[in-house]
Amino acid sequence: MITFRPATVEDSPAIAELYQMAAGGVADYVWSMLAEPGETLLDVGARRFAREGEDFSYQHCTMAEQDGAVLGMVHAYPMFEIMDVDDDMDPVLRPYCDLESAPGLYIAGIACYPVARGKGVGTQLLELVRQRARRDNLPELSLIAFEQNTGSVRLYEREKFDIVRRRAIVAHELIQYTGDALLMVASL
Ligand SMILES: CC(C)(COP(=O)(O)OP(=O)(O)OC[C@H]1O[C@@H](n2cnc3c(N)ncnc32)[C@H](O)[C@@H]1OP(=O)(O)O)[C@@H](O)C(=O)NCCC(=O)NCCS
Repeated sequence: MITFRPATVEDSPAIAELYQMAAGGVADYVWSMLAEPGETLLDVGARRFAREGEDFSYQHCTMAEQDGAVLGMVHAYPMFEIMDVDDDMDPVLRPYCDLESAPGLYIAGIACYPVARGKGVGTQLLELVRQRARRDNLPELSLIAFEQNTGSVRLYEREKFDIVRRRAIVAHELIQYTGDALLMVASL
């Protein structure tokens, strides 16, 4: 049986691994700038998700598991205001800032390990965040998808997300996609 539970700090390495799969290289790009000597990118990610009281915290993650093994996770936090974007914003990250939407529950990452994909776990994780947003009276769910990640876009459209804005991805050797990044929103 597949079960769902709030993440604990011990999940931080798995969260970083799964978040990295979802982020199309954007996480690697950010983590590469934050790496301390001797740290791998996943070390940086795990360190950041082990923090508390931050948007990028295990406290905003839900884990899916079966027989004690993690299958996947969703990372979602309430967003009440859109970040100000100024002219000296990092050009690689700017498209994603332009795609923020508020107020609502922002799904920053959703991923399953490859062996666990296509079995309904992602759909169930989306349903959990939808229930949470309704409980907290948030008017929408939002996420950023990569147009080239067609499987994920199909899943979101099936789950009643609409594409409401798009921005061209700025190429970088760590970013895995080209084309557009999409803001997708599901009203509640
Ligand atoms: C996208 C993802 C979270 C969906 O979770 P899932 O448990 O596989 O999804 P479900 O089983 O509930 O639904 C299956 C649907 O997911 C989509 N999907 C996307 N990538 C998939 C993959 N590699 N394998 C299977 N389904 C995939 C398809 O739309 C599929 O529907 P289909 O049967 O009509 O093709 C998961 O496939 C994954 O971890 N992908 C890699 C990370 C990623 O791209 N995250 C999204 C970033 S925006």
